[in-house]
Amino acid sequence: MSGIEIRSVSQSFGVLNANPIVALQEASLTIEKGELLCLIGPSGCGKSSLLNIIAGLSRATTGDVFIDHVPVRGPLPKTMAFVFQENTLMPWRTALDNIKLGLAFQGAPRKDRDERARAALSLVGMDDFANHYPRQLSGGMKQRIQLARALALDTDIILMDEPFAALDEQTRMVLGEELSVLLAKGGKTIVFVTHSLTEAVFLADRVAVFSARPGRIKQVLSVGEPHPRPRSFMTSSKLTNLRNELYELLHDEVVATMKASFGLSASADP
Ligand SMILES: Nc1ncnc2c1ncn2[C@@H]1O[C@H](COP(=O)(O)OP(=O)(O)O)[C@@H](O)[C@H]1O
Ligand SMILES: [Mg+2]
Repeated sequence: MSGIEIRSVSQSFGVLNANPIVALQEASLTIEKGELLCLIGPSGCGKSSLLNIIAGLSRATTGDVFIDHVPVRGPLPKTMAFVFQENTLMPWRTALDNIKLGLAFQGAPRKDRDERARAALSLVGMDDFANHYPRQLSGGMKQRIQLARALALDTDIILMDEPFAALDEQTRMVLGEELSVLLAKGGKTIVFVTHSLTEAVFLADRVAVFSARPGRIKQVLSVGEPHPRPRSFMTSSKLTNLRNELYELLHDEVVATMKASFGLSASADP
């Protein structure tokens, strides 16, 4: 199993005829092996930027990310899988073939791909939909296939950028419960970006709260509840209290972001 060390990562983006945008400033965090860490913070605070740096899809301006003490210098398809919010399934391929394509990109032996793809479909309860095309599937089903594609790769680390954000609340709650069950089996290290306070507390071992841009890690909350989490955890006072604590931590950051983006006046402060 692998852990992730984020050490003083800063990211700025150059803008023509303007000051560069500082997306991340000196973010440092260690994600333990087998942990599910949620990143939460106001829109534009650098969550996706950080995930892309961990994934090796972009390079930090300064600082570094280490996987098992080795700095990340590019994508590591045998170590990390990625699940995005958007539907990234190929529309002309069946569910099964989409998963097999992921395995092909990873370089998995051809003879193993069918069996591994079917096993992953089964893990997400989609055995009966192997030969369906994405257009024949609901949003929740497509997201299950994307999760299966990542699980099939059997990597130590899965990076998830708001994977359930496009789904209705009921579907995302059920997928959250299923993910918690899968995690209890898996021993995978997961970094999960969400804007849902409830989802963060329900899923995470720890929640890292970002400040407004430039994103810094403001605080890390521990949830301390074993996986799989029972449905009753959703309505427990423990979850509600942690959710309220998160809201307190986030509130000022969200207001700061709105002020910066829309010129919200100070008198509009609640
Ligand atoms: N490739 C890029 N070029 C310029 N600015 C970018 C680029 N990617 C992200 N940004 C800016 O960096 C900030 C952080 O973006 P992002 O990491 O996507 O935030 P989040 O995922 O937290 O909403 C935003 O202000 C965004 O506009
Ligand atoms: Mg984002």
